[in-house]
Amino acid sequence: MMLAEAGQGGIMTVPKGGFVSFEGGDGSGKSTQALLLVQRLKQSGHRVVHTREPGGCWFSEQLRQLLVSGAPEKINDKTELLLMTAARIEHVRQLIEPALRQGQWVVSDRFLDSTLAYQGFGRGMDRCFLDLLQQWAIGGLVPRLTFLLLLEPEEGLRRSIEKRSSEQVRETRFEQEGIAFQRRVNAGFVTLAKESPSRFRVIDATDSREHIARKVWVAVQEVFSHVE
Ligand code: TMP
Repeated sequence: MMLAEAGQGGIMTVPKGGFVSFEGGDGSGKSTQALLLVQRLKQSGHRVVHTREPGGCWFSEQLRQLLVSGAPEKINDKTELLLMTAARIEHVRQLIEPALRQGQWVVSDRFLDSTLAYQGFGRGMDRCFLDLLQQWAIGGLVPRLTFLLLLEPEEGLRRSIEKRSSEQVRETRFEQEGIAFQRRVNAGFVTLAKESPSRFRVIDATDSREHIARKVWVAVQEVFSHVE
C-alpha cells in the first residue's frame, strides 16, 4: 500500500504503518485525541511513533522552546517561519521518514498544515511561497489522513489557558496573539480542509472526548484497510 511520498528519492512504499496528523487551533483537544489514537493502535498490535510539531526530536524540541514561549513579538515573522521549517526538516529526517520506512505508524500532533494556517493565514505570509518552501524542505511528504478539530477560538483559548495554569506550562506565545489571530488561523484550517477533502476529516471539537475518539478510529479504519 502506498502511504506517502518522501524526500528527494521519490515515492516510498510503506508496508504496514500510516502517517496521521492532528490539527486545530489552540485548546481544540487535538493532543488528547492524538494520544487516544496512539493507545488504540498499540492495543491492536501496531508499532507507533507518537510525535509533535514543533518538536519530535532533540534538535526540534530545542527550537520549540524558542518558538512557543515568551512574548508574541519577540521574533520576526520570517524568523518564526524559518525556525518552524527547520524544526520540520529535522523532525522528518530524524524521526518520521525512518519510522515510515520501517513500517511503523506516525501520529503527529500538528504538521505542515499548522505552518500554512498560523504563518500563512494567521500572519498573512504568501501562500505560494509557503507551499514552495515546504516542498523544498520536506519534498512533498504529507500525512495520509489529517484530523481537524474545530472549535470557536474563544472556547479554545479558554480551554488552553485553563490547561496551562493547571500544568504550569509557559508555552503561550501563540495564545497571546488574541482572538482575531485565532479566527484567521481557524478559517485557514477550514480552507485547507476544503482544498484536500480526501485527506482531511473535520471534527466538531465540542463533542465528547469518547465520541470524537470513536469517529477518529472509524476514519482510520476506513482509510487504512489493514487496520481492524
Ligand atoms: P501546541 O503544541 O500546544 O499546539 O503549540 C504549538 C504552537 O505552535 C501552536 O500555537 C501553533 C504553533 N505552530 C505554528 O505557528 N506553526 C507551525 O508550523 C507549527 C507546527 C506550530
